[in-house]
Amino acid sequence: MSLHGLAEMTLGVPNVDETTQFYREFGLSETGDAVFATADGGDQLRVVESPFRRLVEFAVAADDADDVDRIRRAAAAHDLDVTDHADGSISMIEPIVGIRAKVTMRPRIVQAEPYVWQAMNSPGNPARSGTRAPAIFHEGPARPRKLGHVLYTSPDFEGSMRFLTDVLGFKVSDTSAGMIAFLRCSPDHHNVGLINAPVPFFHHSSWQVNDVDEIGQGAQNLLAVDPSRDIWGLGRHFLGSNFFWYFRDPAGNFAEYYADLDQIPDDAEWDARDWAPDKSLYAWGPTVPKAFVHPDDVEEIAAALQGAS
Ligand SMILES: [Fe+2]
Repeated sequence: MSLHGLAEMTLGVPNVDETTQFYREFGLSETGDAVFATADGGDQLRVVESPFRRLVEFAVAADDADDVDRIRRAAAAHDLDVTDHADGSISMIEPIVGIRAKVTMRPRIVQAEPYVWQAMNSPGNPARSGTRAPAIFHEGPARPRKLGHVLYTSPDFEGSMRFLTDVLGFKVSDTSAGMIAFLRCSPDHHNVGLINAPVPFFHHSSWQVNDVDEIGQGAQNLLAVDPSRDIWGLGRHFLGSNFFWYFRDPAGNFAEYYADLDQIPDDAEWDARDWAPDKSLYAWGPTVPKAFVHPDDVEEIAAALQGAS
């Protein structure tokens, strides 16, 4: 069969208590000690202690043992050491940036309560005539449905791309000028994003919510606690088409709410393209803040990596 999305991720931070409080307020459900679930995907986030912030692991969900074996063989062909786990999963270290990539057998996420966007009034189509918009009555935090993607930087962009495509079997959905690439292992436009940058660091995780109103409502709740969490939003990306809003957790990682991401069924023709840099970030939204492209702590991370090597 095949891969079908991200199963979970492990985030390493120096301040576990503060960071877990953020993800509670972000709308994830705490199911164990620093373990968080989404509404549809079960446990998808683990927060662990680390001297500096980093993505410790991302796990890719596979249908069956054949998928795991295929990746095991590809890893061997690339001289990567593979660790076998008791549950049949395997893991290996991404050779450039050192993130652990796990391949694990999981049932596909079934979104048993499909969300249909609410009818809206539009020119010539008063589809919500005679009623107030239901969204104005929604309260409380967003409730992310699943983990959609992770995005990290690499100082050897081509090498990190090869790991994703040739070892894990990801497909390229869109790229921009050798600076950014979006790759998928499911119908989602991207499950991993890669940025070409001299210092390897974790950029963001992204969490699916129902619609653009839920993005706004989630933002409202997070920023009511601490307005300095606001990084960039609301906007619509060009690559992937999704609405987005990004926030900074207390360790410095970004977390994104997204809605309306492009879907690419397995058998669909998809015109993967290399886009000009002006398309790489967004179709519309606020001006891109410097901290989004170059987070404030990058030099600190570079120094920590230097010390660790
Ligand atoms: Fe994203």
